[in-house]
Amino acid sequence: MQANERLIEIYQYTVSQLKAVVEKFGITQDELHIAGDFLNRAGKENVCRSLVDVTLAMASMDATVRLKYGTRPSIEGPYYGTHPVRSDGNLIDEPKTDDDVVLHISGIVSDASTGLPINGAHVDFWQADSHGKYDLNGSNLRGVVITDSAGRYRTTTLVPKSYSEHDHDQIGELFCAMGRPCSRAAHIHVRVSSLGEVRLTTQLFIPDSPYLDSDYVEGAVTPDLILTLEPEVGSGSDGAPAAFTAKFDFVVPNTSLIGTS
Ligand code: DHB
Ligand code: FE
Repeated sequence: MQANERLIEIYQYTVSQLKAVVEKFGITQDELHIAGDFLNRAGKENVCRSLVDVTLAMASMDATVRLKYGTRPSIEGPYYGTHPVRSDGNLIDEPKTDDDVVLHISGIVSDASTGLPINGAHVDFWQADSHGKYDLNGSNLRGVVITDSAGRYRTTTLVPKSYSEHDHDQIGELFCAMGRPCSRAAHIHVRVSSLGEVRLTTQLFIPDSPYLDSDYVEGAVTPDLILTLEPEVGSGSDGAPAAFTAKFDFVVPNTSLIGTS
């Protein structure tokens, strides 16, 4: 059997770091067993993968796929699907409700290494609705828009709401025990691909959304990923804006260069 040197090194380093935690906090054997039982229960509920996403995935992205320049990537999350191309840019399939606020997003997709706009890039969006729910059966608030020859895209969607997926599982239990909220700040997922190759997966956040400073995905929210929303002039009947616009330019890496910079 061939020893996996990288695994050996990671195991030894991880154990030494965890030993330091045990020593620093005087963690008892009983407490260690509580932690072990917690992980067993989380495993039975299939939330260990989410636990990794929530605690460590952003650190991994920042260490492995983040470029010195270009749009900051983020995790894909559990709700990606296969989405229809929206030639008119409209992602809204369901009739409008009183809680819905329309959001027009537009911008340019450009290549991080050349600075040039990318023609024909697929900008694929998916997000929760005005009540914090993802459409898991259809394509509401999901869809692909394609850039023109100047790299421009434009889409119409709704302002998403924050939500929690973990109120009834071990992640919620952990956050509750710490007295921390267990919610995600409102966000829109985006995946940009070109010529069939995924160039960027990220998330855009809604300004002034609750939980921007306590999102349960550790490290997900940074100021560069928070949209600026401009009220659309005269869009609401009662004076309140019924629609907002936001500009966001995606600067995407040439994935073949990742790991070499
Ligand atoms: C989780 C949910 C999301 O919508 C997301 O983007 C990332 C993580 C989660 O519940 O683990
Ligand atoms: Fe999400």
